[in-house]
Amino acid sequence: MQPATALENILKERFGTSIPVDPDLPGLDELTRIAGHRSHRRFLERAVEPGLLRLLCACALSAPSKSDLQQADILVVGEKETQRAIAALIADMPWIADAPAFLVFLANGRRLPLIAAAREKPFPNDHLDLFFTAAVDSAIVLATFLRAAAAVGLGCCPISAIRDHARTVSEMLALPARVIPVAGLCLGWPKEAGGVTPRLGLEVTLHQDRYAAEDSMPRIEDYDRRREARRPYLRQRAPERWGKAAAYGWSEDKARQYAEPLRADFGAFVCAQGFRLD
Ligand SMILES: Cc1cc2nc3c(=O)[nH]c(=O)nc-3n(C[C@H](O)[C@H](O)[C@H](O)COP(=O)(O)O)c2cc1C
Repeated sequence: MQPATALENILKERFGTSIPVDPDLPGLDELTRIAGHRSHRRFLERAVEPGLLRLLCACALSAPSKSDLQQADILVVGEKETQRAIAALIADMPWIADAPAFLVFLANGRRLPLIAAAREKPFPNDHLDLFFTAAVDSAIVLATFLRAAAAVGLGCCPISAIRDHARTVSEMLALPARVIPVAGLCLGWPKEAGGVTPRLGLEVTLHQDRYAAEDSMPRIEDYDRRREARRPYLRQRAPERWGKAAAYGWSEDKARQYAEPLRADFGAFVCAQGFRLD
């Protein structure tokens, strides 16, 4: 199949709409890999060689950084005992224990104040933006790691569930004040090809010149139907509370998911770690 056709097919599967691709466009391999993204949760019993892991981390940490502040770090959890202890906190995600490698992406709000003190300068920027920029930098490094891993054929699954146990995980990893976990990451050689998960239509998430504020619910329901046809949910969330829905799409699932308080104590944890959120 022509590379442009392959990319068009993936985008059709993702967004339910045709997006023409110029066959002479350079970089089609990379675009196809980006568009074909999928999380992997099943891995071969094959180690990720430490040199390769270090290479991928270096590529990921080459990502852009707000004001060149470089507020993202990666922690490689090399001790299997620690990985298993983290996995034991999150029993419904067995892929954490199974992953040949496990990493934690960190937001580092510690370096800048340390540098200010070392350089004997004031630091009047101890407010929400310090937390925000560090978290954004960390997320960009995480996304870049996903791309680097995919380029060599490795599969990944980010794990924000470690933040359900942010304090415990931070203690296990000896994170100092103002260094917080943004997400874990399972890494390994994929056991199966996996598939593309459809996304909301571009008419919902892509805006031209002005935010399109009209009621997006009909378009979201279109997506629900498209997604249910291609990737139906295997289980309905909390049927004991919400009953069994005849049609169970993405919006019903997300509404049910966020009908429960999740990580309501995360702000308190972030403050206790020394960030200011005002
Ligand atoms: C920041 C972040 C955190 C995530 N946390 C988890 C997680 O804790 N457990 C998990 O199984 N998947 C996690 N995922 C993976 C998402 O569930 C996945 O990206 C989403 O379902 C879409 O599927 P896809 O990545 O295959 O397109 C996370 C993804 C991101 C970007």
